[in-house]
Amino acid sequence: MPDTPEGGIAGETTVLIPATEQHLPLLADWFADPAFVRHWGGRPLTREEVSAKYTGRRRPAVVSLLVLREAVPVGYAQYVSTGPREGGIDLVLHPSAQGRGLGPDAARALIRHLHTVLGWDRVTVDPESSNPRAVRAWRKAGFRAVGHPGKPSADGVPAERRGGRVKPCPVPGGRPIRPAPSARLRPMTTQRASTSPFDLSGRVAVVTGAARGIGRSAAVALAAAGADVAGLDIVGEVSPRMDFAPAEPADLEETGRAVRAHGRRWLALRADIRDIAALRAAAERVVQEWGGIDVVLANAGIQAFKPLLEMDDGDWFDQIDNNLTGTANTLRAFGPHLVARGGGRLIVTSSTQGQHGTKWGASYSASKWGIIGLMKSAALDLGQYGITVNAIVPGLIDTALTRHEDRYAQAIADGGGTPTGDVSKDEQTAASSLAAKLPLGVPWIDPDAVAPAVVYLASDAARMVSGTALSVTGGDSARITA
Ligand SMILES: NC(=O)c1ccc[n+]([C@@H]2O[C@H](COP(=O)([O-])OP(=O)(O)OC[C@H]3O[C@@H](n4cnc5c(N)ncnc54)[C@H](O)[C@@H]3O)[C@@H](O)[C@H]2O)c1
Repeated sequence: MPDTPEGGIAGETTVLIPATEQHLPLLADWFADPAFVRHWGGRPLTREEVSAKYTGRRRPAVVSLLVLREAVPVGYAQYVSTGPREGGIDLVLHPSAQGRGLGPDAARALIRHLHTVLGWDRVTVDPESSNPRAVRAWRKAGFRAVGHPGKPSADGVPAERRGGRVKPCPVPGGRPIRPAPSARLRPMTTQRASTSPFDLSGRVAVVTGAARGIGRSAAVALAAAGADVAGLDIVGEVSPRMDFAPAEPADLEETGRAVRAHGRRWLALRADIRDIAALRAAAERVVQEWGGIDVVLANAGIQAFKPLLEMDDGDWFDQIDNNLTGTANTLRAFGPHLVARGGGRLIVTSSTQGQHGTKWGASYSASKWGIIGLMKSAALDLGQYGITVNAIVPGLIDTALTRHEDRYAQAIADGGGTPTGDVSKDEQTAASSLAAKLPLGVPWIDPDAVAPAVVYLASDAARMVSGTALSVTGGDSARITA
């Protein structure tokens, strides 16, 4: 059953729509009504409590939904993520709507949504143990009781009665009820169970330098694999020392369009990776909007060329500050949210120039070698939190960063030639010498050929890969030691 175009979740006979402020009068009435509250299993709530809990400040950590039957509100549901791929739900029908199968229908729709759209592997619910009717209803919806090790629960009902009830579920020390294996084998969840380890459905990815080039390709590939993507970029000048035009706001919008074309959510974040406060605010925003972060690609970078002895301080520091410190800032700002999520993926963008020296490129090369050291150190720090940290190592990629006179001149000088200063002539000379050097015979690699490496490192397939660098170089890696 497809979800509704308005963002609702469609069952056979019910539709679940986001509960908003406009539903407050109705919800306030319900949560004050003793009959409704009895079925729900809590205590009557004031209008202020309902406003804060069900339409207000707990959103979006707790997602509140109104259950409709033919556009008439018949119940309330909620879900909250409690881990990378799991969380709890609750659902209560208005007494006047009970006994018509609407509750099980809405529960099935919600569970399907959580498994297949958000990618949850485990859904828990925590009914009041003294409410056998609620326990029966959840069993009907495909849940089975689970007890604590050594303390099996009796007949599907929690063995011990708990005192106060904390919503949303599950509560530590409580007796969660989770879907039975049979529920997991419903057609939709079977599909989920057999999906590829490269599937990123339900994951939230953040990509820096997302406006164009490798960042855009990676953002789109992550979305194609199922992830929602927040794209961060400065979309403006980074340093006056660059010989190429900066990215513009329209570039970031274009990335957003391409992400959305895959049916995934998109969030544009305008920030400078040198500004850690701005990065922290951006991270908070992603968490507030989407509930957490699973994958971060710290990719934003710049490049300029000058012989070392001709460099002024800015020639040296602009690339070190931006590429190395900016990448470290990104890990420092976003990493804590991955820890809070219970694990995740940090991926940084280095370069083959982070594996060998670069004529006229001391600052860039040093920044990219530094990123390898940063990545390996972070992998040691963060493994204990279930976070992998890896680098991608692109070769020479066909992006704005490489397609300009300074870079052609550097490539020609590197091969022992003399650049003419004529852009199109130097481009041709650089292209033929670069293509001759690469085993796979291309001068520049399409950024779309780098993106699958990012998807791999972001996926479950790479869950045991950490502290390593994955190269996409058209064969240039063959000239690099180990
Ligand atoms: N193109 C290549 O040949 C190549 C090779 C190896 C590594 N890399 C690395 O790949 C990454 C992406 O490069 P690209 O080739 O796609 O270049 P690009 O210029 O097309 O894209 C880089 C993006 O990063 C953004 N950015 C730069 N500094 C920023 C900052 N301070 N804050 C926020 N955003 C910022 C830019 O606005 C731009 O949109 C860089 O780290 C680069 O060093 C590129």
